Amino acid sequence: MNVISAKIGQPVSRIDGFAKVTGQAKYAAEPHPPGLLYGVIVNSLIARGRIEAIHDEAARAVPGVIEVMTHHNRPHTALFEKSYVDGLGVPGSPYRPLHDAEIRFNGQPVAVVFAETFEAAREAAMLIQVDYERWPHNADFDAALYQKYMPSKTRSNYVPPKTRGNASEAYALNPIKIEGRFHLAPEHHNPMEMHATTVIPEEDGTLTVWDKTQGPQAVQTYLASALSLSGKKVRVRSPYVGGAFGSGLRAQHNVFLAALGAEMLKRPVRVTLTRPQMFTHVFRPEAVMDIALAADRDGTLQSIIVEGVTDTSRFEHNMENLVIWGLIGYKCPNATADYKIAPRDTYTSSDMRAPGAATGVNLFEMAIDELAWACRMDPLAFRRHNYSDIDAMHNMPFTSNALREALLLGAERFGWNERPLAPRSLRDGKELIGWGMATGIWDAMFSPTSARGRLTSDGRLHIATAASDIGTGTYTILAQTASEAFSMPINRIDIELGDSTLPECPTEGGSWTAASAGAAVWLACQSLCEQFLKLLKKNKNTPDWMKQDEITVAEGELHGVRNGSPVALSLQDALSFIGQDSIEAEETAKPGLRGKISEMRKARFTHSAVFCEVRVDEDLGIVRVTRLVNAVAAGRIMNPKTAASQVRGAMVMATGMALHEESLMDERYGRFMNHNFAEYHIPSHADIPEMDVLFVDEKDKEISPLGVKGVGEIGMCGTAAAIANAIFHATGKRHRNLPIMSGA
Ligand code: MOS
Repeated sequence: MNVISAKIGQPVSRIDGFAKVTGQAKYAAEPHPPGLLYGVIVNSLIARGRIEAIHDEAARAVPGVIEVMTHHNRPHTALFEKSYVDGLGVPGSPYRPLHDAEIRFNGQPVAVVFAETFEAAREAAMLIQVDYERWPHNADFDAALYQKYMPSKTRSNYVPPKTRGNASEAYALNPIKIEGRFHLAPEHHNPMEMHATTVIPEEDGTLTVWDKTQGPQAVQTYLASALSLSGKKVRVRSPYVGGAFGSGLRAQHNVFLAALGAEMLKRPVRVTLTRPQMFTHVFRPEAVMDIALAADRDGTLQSIIVEGVTDTSRFEHNMENLVIWGLIGYKCPNATADYKIAPRDTYTSSDMRAPGAATGVNLFEMAIDELAWACRMDPLAFRRHNYSDIDAMHNMPFTSNALREALLLGAERFGWNERPLAPRSLRDGKELIGWGMATGIWDAMFSPTSARGRLTSDGRLHIATAASDIGTGTYTILAQTASEAFSMPINRIDIELGDSTLPECPTEGGSWTAASAGAAVWLACQSLCEQFLKLLKKNKNTPDWMKQDEITVAEGELHGVRNGSPVALSLQDALSFIGQDSIEAEETAKPGLRGKISEMRKARFTHSAVFCEVRVDEDLGIVRVTRLVNAVAAGRIMNPKTAASQVRGAMVMATGMALHEESLMDERYGRFMNHNFAEYHIPSHADIPEMDVLFVDEKDKEISPLGVKGVGEIGMCGTAAAIANAIFHATGKRHRNLPIMSGA
């Protein structure tokens, strides 16, 4: 690595890469304290009912088994539902693990076996028999649609937007129109690392909890409240997370049950979920969107009507930003949207990478493609014609929006202007070739975040904030930020993340961490540097040249002027003059602070333009994606290497959404049945071509203090639609269900 050029904007390789590939990076299931017990969860086999009896005699007889924990013998936990509300704050009645005999979803934990070995715990878990009183349930989404509702309590941004114009009248009056029901199958997050927790009761009575989570501080708060551990110190650590995609936004039941087991048995406990068990909690909701669009004879959009429904559990009201996206980005005088949720007897659906937009943008962009073809217009020309220069839904200017540039750059790289308009125009032997495109949009959010910088006597800079790096590159970009803000070689910077005791940082998600934690680290380093220079200037032991205004820190050295000549000194030596082992500064970046975000009345989004080539086997219907180009406008790019990697990863996931991923419900049992990688299909190397990720130059001084927007999710938005639209161009056949299992 070039140590000097490791500033913001450089393609620095991951600084945590070495620790990860050599196994030194410790994940939640890896700490191995003496006396560790292994917990294996027994899941309910019915979707709704009551536990009548749990027969655990055979399990208890397995050598090595210490305890079988059920709702009968568990330690005391918080009584009230509100104590179980986690950081995501989903309205409703949060699920309380092992609370009582009631079963609310198939896969619900009914017992946890703790044993000296994992093998004993697993064997015993299989011997447990549960008698149930079965109650009727519904797990069928189509049936649930009859019970759709808008919850009385929800976040305001999920409430359908205000209607503009008269969309149904405009739909009736305009000559060119399409309408139909678009559908997305439920999907599971399936990060490489499965959910796991290791809880260690410390000698001083505190609990150290290693958990796979996107928010160690959110889990800390949740555990303290749900387990009634008030007064007892809980420290949650998640320094390394093997992917999460939103599954780690909620405190999953493994962390609750592991902590409860440790409390009960006064021993260290580890609870890991198996891959099939990963299909017993959060998933991306199944969705339908009824979309009707109309245009006049010039191909000008005249009406947008969107009605969306996603599923939720019977006990919580999970919602996402499903229906707003088309109303923001397209200029259209008449638009209306409605959104409801449909309850079924499953666990609560939840946020998964670009929640709402991954579904809503892709399905809407498939509909836009249909309208463009109905107008016999090139889909790119149609979008440029109907593009809105402002956020058309909120009637607000954007802080920045380089979508036009992205469309042009992506089209040029792809060679889009060679595209014949009509479907079924391109062919190679028995393969039909199609070119499709779509636009993407996602929030560019900012959350108040604190960070600490500490300069130590060995001349190293230590940065700390409670963020989790969920595989996105947070360690690396924060090191680059510190390197530039303090002017310090990156190999003398240590980044500490994923610990609830560190300065306050929101759960990693929503693509806000780069902008937010980046700004906090920037401020902390600047403040540390100012404080350091001030101490040097006012200390009576420092030489005269250090008391002058000219002194600066550059590349990890102190620079000044002595007797008219430049002079440099190591930071170690400079620190020794002021007689301190270290100096430290903590700062909080928040809207209004230096960035003045709270004063803005502007819309804040990232944008993208995705172009795709597919080949469809005409006889077999097999679809292969052969080219993908994504031009992304996301403000300042902190690290083009990790950023492109984020976008590529999301494009792979979106390819799964378009062609492979589908969790299949067995309605008789209320359980997702394809709960392994043999039957739940995700794209593998053979499914993914070279992907071109381009970043459009987009300067934005208002979006966040460093001009950063974040790129974790934008790659999901539009990519699945571009693939679906390319399949239409190849075959002339429209698909309105994702995933598309057969192109022809
Ligand atoms: Mo993301 S679904 O906010 O982890």
